[in-house]
Amino acid sequence: MVTNAPIGIFDSGYGGLTVFRSIADLLPGYDYVYLGDNARAPYGNRSFDSVHQYTLECVQWFFGQGCPLVILACNTASAKALRTIQQRDLPGLGADKRVLGVIRPTAEVIGNYTQTKSVGVLGTKGTITSGSYEIEIHHFFPEIKVHQLACPMWVPLIENGEYNGPGADYFVKKYLDELLSASPDLDTLLLACTHYPLLMDKIRKFLPENIQVVSQGPIVANSLAVYLERHPEMEQKLTKKGRKQFFTTDDTSDFDMHGGVFFGESVKSVHVPLGVGKL
Ligand code: DGL
Repeated sequence: MVTNAPIGIFDSGYGGLTVFRSIADLLPGYDYVYLGDNARAPYGNRSFDSVHQYTLECVQWFFGQGCPLVILACNTASAKALRTIQQRDLPGLGADKRVLGVIRPTAEVIGNYTQTKSVGVLGTKGTITSGSYEIEIHHFFPEIKVHQLACPMWVPLIENGEYNGPGADYFVKKYLDELLSASPDLDTLLLACTHYPLLMDKIRKFLPENIQVVSQGPIVANSLAVYLERHPEMEQKLTKKGRKQFFTTDDTSDFDMHGGVFFGESVKSVHVPLGVGKL
């Protein structure tokens, strides 16, 4: 009998904890394992090959922990690694395993938020240059204008604990001004990076009130609930003791200090030596 079949939640670092928060609030009964690849974060500027290699290695680690279902709670990994993992790698790793991303569930609903049919999308360089959001949003809402902008300084500010500092003010305003001057008609701003909700106060401070800001946590949590309803063969496999475990590829004391802020409650992590010697 399987005694441990948790849902795996992955991010390059801390950002996925904002998604995990929403998932754990909506679906508290399941067991969860979170892994942050902090030793190799940020992923945002890395090549397709690197993001694929690192993400695949982490997905294999989740399978080794007994997770039949892994959520890539990272837009960069969803944009640059998910398709290859689903189509090329998964068949050889276990036909009964599933890996899901965050881009499609977000694209499926984002059109319902906008009146002006104009949406801003902020993400890492990797997510934006992949064009994944434009393609996926147009698949569901062909009439919507998508204005994308990469914000390469935001994740480093957040990963280094500077999201409340004056440096964050400068870089939040800089990217928002750039986006708004190019697309004055937008009424909806999608934070297409799971780290960005940590900058919400600053984003609100520099954004006109009529523009709503959408974060992915609740969207991804709802989409997971629907997925589990539609896939009883997966739902029945998952163990349900409400356990949450946290792992990081880097220093555990750093993870516990910053992770608690992202997750909204204290976390105690365990080190996983992935990627050692391959940096
Ligand atoms: N949290 C990740 C995302 O949603 C990005 C962080 C990174 O650059 O590693 O894209």
